[in-house]
Amino acid sequence: MALIVLAADKGAPGVTTAATALAAVWPRPVLLAECDPAGGDLAYRLPAADGGVINPGRGLLTLGATARRGLEPAQLHEHTQKIVGGLDILAGVTHGEQAAGLTWMWGPLGRAFAAVPNADVLADCGRMGAHPELGDLIAEAAHTVFITRASLDHVAHLRERLAISKADAVVVIADPRQYKSSIDDVRRIVGQHVAHVHGLAYDPKGAELLRGQWGGRLDRSLLIRTARELAGRLSAQVRGAR
Ligand SMILES: Nc1ncnc2c1ncn2[C@@H]1O[C@H](COP(=O)(O)OP(=O)(O)O)[C@@H](O)[C@H]1O
Ligand SMILES: [Mg+2]
Repeated sequence: MALIVLAADKGAPGVTTAATALAAVWPRPVLLAECDPAGGDLAYRLPAADGGVINPGRGLLTLGATARRGLEPAQLHEHTQKIVGGLDILAGVTHGEQAAGLTWMWGPLGRAFAAVPNADVLADCGRMGAHPELGDLIAEAAHTVFITRASLDHVAHLRERLAISKADAVVVIADPRQYKSSIDDVRRIVGQHVAHVHGLAYDPKGAELLRGQWGGRLDRSLLIRTARELAGRLSAQVRGAR
């Protein structure tokens, strides 16, 4: 269906956390793909669906090893794994050096993601800028979303980034005590470069629960409640844009 790219300009604002929370509540079937060239985190953060561990060696790397002669959407599921909650993930590289051998893959991978017939793909692309070759994947995205913290230093860098990299939406990891005003502040600074500025709660408890066994407490967390609203908005925008 659609490829949705999530990325940051600088630092570690919470791209992987946002991608995981969004995938957990996405209103349509979804594959969470770790495309951060600096290395994936999910295999170390989340249990597998059967309570065991995720195999960090199965994912982008095994796909890359078999896809040299062409990459079809149907090949993807041979390299995905089910994690807690039944969510399908494509685990990323385990360290940055491995990504150096995969620079050829980002374009074909983006085309395969966009052509998956029965699911959206949420791609966690980590930080923009450090790996320009990721542009080949981002070019295939129906929607590009930047994650930022609300602090001025983060937002100022993001504004510079948006002047050179096109994005459809910005998501502010916002303190629940000043949720709306934080989002409005960011909108004032970057609004001329991007159509939508949304929020996702800054919620350390929720972020911690997201790393364990998913259940009712996580479901009631501010992180997941705001992720649900955000997922609804983003998926509607993606559909509207197509
Ligand atoms: N919405 C959030 N609320 C509170 N803490 C968060 C949130 N998102 C991320 N964090 C915390 O910030 C750190 C970095 O998060 P991560 O998702 O790995 O960022 P990134 O993928 O941008 O490097 C982690 O310790 C994580 O628990
Ligand atoms: Mg990350």
